Formats: sequence, C-alpha cells, structure tokens
Amino acid sequence: MSIESKDKIISEERQGETIQNVGKSSGKKMYIESYGCQMNFSDSEIVASILQKDGFSSTPNLEDADIVLVNTCSIREKAETTVRNRLKVYNAIKRTQNPKMMVGVLGCMAERLKEKFLEEEKLVDIVVGPDAYRDLPNLIDEVNDGRKAVNVILSKEETYAEISPVRLGGNGITAFVSIMRGCDNMCTFCVVPFTRGRERSRDPKSILNECLDLVKNGYKEVTLLGQNVDSYLWSGGGLKKDFEKLSIEEKDKSVNFSQLLDLVAQVDPSLRIRFSTSHPKDMNDDVIHVMAKHENICDHVHLPVQSGNSRILEMMNRGYTREWYINRIESIRKIIPNCGISMDIISGFCSETEQDHKDTLSLMEEVKYDFGYMFSYSERPNTQAQRKFEDDVSVEIKKVRLQEIVDLQRKHSKIRVETRLNKTHKVLVEGFSKKSKEHLYGRTTFNTVVVFPKENYKPGDYVLVKANTCTSATLIGKAVKLA
Ligand code: SAH
Ligand code: SF4
Ligand code: F3S
Repeated sequence: MSIESKDKIISEERQGETIQNVGKSSGKKMYIESYGCQMNFSDSEIVASILQKDGFSSTPNLEDADIVLVNTCSIREKAETTVRNRLKVYNAIKRTQNPKMMVGVLGCMAERLKEKFLEEEKLVDIVVGPDAYRDLPNLIDEVNDGRKAVNVILSKEETYAEISPVRLGGNGITAFVSIMRGCDNMCTFCVVPFTRGRERSRDPKSILNECLDLVKNGYKEVTLLGQNVDSYLWSGGGLKKDFEKLSIEEKDKSVNFSQLLDLVAQVDPSLRIRFSTSHPKDMNDDVIHVMAKHENICDHVHLPVQSGNSRILEMMNRGYTREWYINRIESIRKIIPNCGISMDIISGFCSETEQDHKDTLSLMEEVKYDFGYMFSYSERPNTQAQRKFEDDVSVEIKKVRLQEIVDLQRKHSKIRVETRLNKTHKVLVEGFSKKSKEHLYGRTTFNTVVVFPKENYKPGDYVLVKANTCTSATLIGKAVKLA
C-alpha cells in the first residue's frame, strides 16, 4: 500500500459519489458511482443525461436500482482494487436485496479489461468504454434480452459535444466542462492513452454554449477539463492535426487553448474560469498572458512535474527537462507574481536513485508549491514502462521517499498559505464549512480554501474576506463585504 496525500485521495481517487435528483421518475431507476479523475465525474454526468433520455431516473439507494453503473479508474493498482471491492458490495446486495439489479462497468477499467471483465466478475452484465456511452440504451436492451453486453470501441471523433450533462451531486455553483478527450502523450508510466484513446478537441461553440447555460442556471465557476489542456486545438473535429499541416481554411477557423480561454473568459464577467491539467511541455506564455488579462480567470496553474530529475523525466517520456520546467514556473511567476502553483509527483519510478529523488526534493524547494498530489509509482500492465523497464525500487523505499515528499510539501503549503495572510481575498463561497454551519467556505483565485463566519452571506456569493489566521493549508478570515 502506498501512502497517498489526503488531498489526492479526495480529488483523484475520490470515494464513489452517487448521483441524485436526476429527472422525473418513469419507473426505471439508475444508480451511478464514480471513481478517478474529474474527467470521470464529468463523464458520469454525460451518462446520466443519456440514460435520462432513455427514461431512467436516479436513486441514491442500491437496493432500488434497476441498473447500477460504476465509472472506474485504472491509473494505479489501488484505484482498481477499490472498484473490485465495491463490486463485492454490489454482489451482496444483489444476492440479498435486489436480484433484478443490472450491473454495468464504465470508464478506464472497462476499456483496459474489456471482455475479460465479464470472465473475472460474474456479476457484471455490461462493459462500456469511455467513447461508447451513447450505446448504453442498446447495451441495456441486450442484457434485457438475456445477453451480456460489451462496447469498448475507442473513437477518433467522439466528444459528446452536444450532450447537456446532468449536473450531479454538485453544489450548483462550480461545474466541470470537458474541452477535449483522450491523450497522445504516451508518458511511459501512464495507462490513460490506452483507456481514453487518441486526443480530440471539442467544438468551441459547444463549450461556450455549455458555459452560457451554466451561467443562466446560476453557476459561478467552470473548470475546463482535459488531460493536456494546452494541447487543445480545434480545427473542425476529429484527431488532432499538426497546426503547420492545416490548410489555410482550417488555420483560419482553428482555435487553440489560449484563444479558447480568452473566449470562455468573455462569456460572463461573473463566471470564474479554472482549467486542468496543464502540461509543462505545451504550456506557453500566451496562456499565461490570457490568464493575466482576465480578472475572472483564476490565478492558479496545476503543472504536474512527476520528477525533478531530467534522466527520469526522459525515461518517463514527459517531453521536458528540469530546466525547461523551471523556466515555465519562472514565466508564470513573472507574469502573475502571486499565482497559485500545484503539482503531481511520482516517487520511486523505475531506476530512481537516492540522488534522483533528492533532485525532486530540491526542485520542490526551488518552486515551493501551494499544494500537490503525490503518489508512489504503480506499474500498470502494458504501458511502455512495464514493457521496457524494471519496477526496481522496492515498495519500502518508494514509501520512504513518498513520505519525504509529502512532509516537504506540507512545509511548503504552510509557507505559501502564510504569504496570503493579512490580505483581503475575493472568495467564491461554495458551501458551509464541514465543521460548523455558522461558517462558510470558498476558494480564493489562487485555489486556497478560506473559512469565515457566515453572517448574512450565502453559497454562490463573491465575498471579500480578510484573512487573519491560517491552519496548515486553509485561511481563516472575516468577511468585509460582497465583492
Ligand atoms: N494528464 C495529466 C495527469 C493525469 S493522471 C498530466 O499529464 O499531468 C494524474 C496523475 O497520476 C499523474 O500526473 C501522475 O502523477 C499520476 N500517475 C499516473 N500514472 C501513474 C502510475 N502508474 N503510478 C503512480 N502515479 C501515476
Ligand atoms: Fe498520462 Fe502523460 Fe497523458 Fe497525462 S499527459 S494522461 S500522464 S500520458
Ligand atoms: Fe483514472 Fe481514467 Fe482518469 S485512469 S485518472 S479515470 S482518465
């Protein structure tokens, strides 16, 4: 078992969240649980929309569900184990309380294991990959006809562009908007290119319409999602083409990420914009300048580094060196001096020496991240790293190195949060503090969480909050006035 940062468990391998309040009852009931990254949570909203059109309403109870869908993640072994354990729970409920229940597996594990899933887990009726969700109603019919059903075909075009996601279990204030699918990067450790297929960008018109709809429905913040948002390039649909190889017409109508960001920022000045994930090899200064130009684009960049050692980065096929990465950080800090910066780091990748690990720690010292998601390397079947390299750092050493990384990050988070003290921040209130109904919580533009006494303010308000004290990662303050 690896030690993983608490933050990461919440955001990347979130415990399954279930969907509620979807549609009008028509008799058929669905229960959807999601694991993994934000893309998966966003996809579950598309699945809910597809099934709602097919007459399903949602239930928060497994016992009532006609269909139970689990949207799965393969990124690390632990993510897969979590899903396997969940299937055992479904199995017990099916046996004892709900024999009619149909079980479908969605997402990255479905794509990775394909038909094998049906052999390994007798309970499973449907296996459907991330590009085949439109086929779900047909797959359900097949199961009703007495057959098991599988569709794991990956697509070169599918972006679900025109499907209006059903917003699930959210706060009505912040929403995810998927801008692209798949990944072409082939980092050697990563399973995503195999489970999500080739990179495709979504039509900017449909992205802007979705954002406009969200504003009309009272939403105040969108996070634009993609595995490598900086690589976004719309040139009419289908697989990404090299910009230089586009025809003049295609070049004319093409939209890259900095242009998209500029357009989304103009949808409504009261709509905050975040985006994830940026890739150090592709994040250029244009993007940072667009961030600086618009007040409503948040001053936070999530820029996964993975390792501070250039030899390891090369083995990971990340496409940048330590120096290149540091230059990207310098650009961000030059253009947006207080910008929040966060990272992902993997400890104990193949052949990592003590000195390589120290390079990661020294890079962290140099950057001083606001927060980060930290993992120990988990070998994934059929990735390039699994085929070419030996997973030769012992579990114990991975654990020790990860702990050193987590401890150092804790120190840096505190240093960074302290730089935000005694200042007034514009906070978008997202809800009530977990600890007290008398307190609200929200985030600053830098993505720092702020807690303050509620007085007459409410979720959805922008409030100017003076930060007086802090814990290791949270600001505590007092409201000054509505922003
Ligand atoms: N597209 C994003 C990352 C998506 S996966 C990017 O390139 O930055 C999220 C994170 O999971 C990665 O940044 C990496 O830190 C971690 N990760 C991916 N594969 C892993 C593996 N095999 N073992 C451990 N961590 C892994
Ligand atoms: Fe995986 Fe690399 Fe693509 Fe991120 S950029 S999803 S780490 S292959
Ligand atoms: Fe997991 Fe797939 Fe996301 S592997 S991290 S759910 S893209």
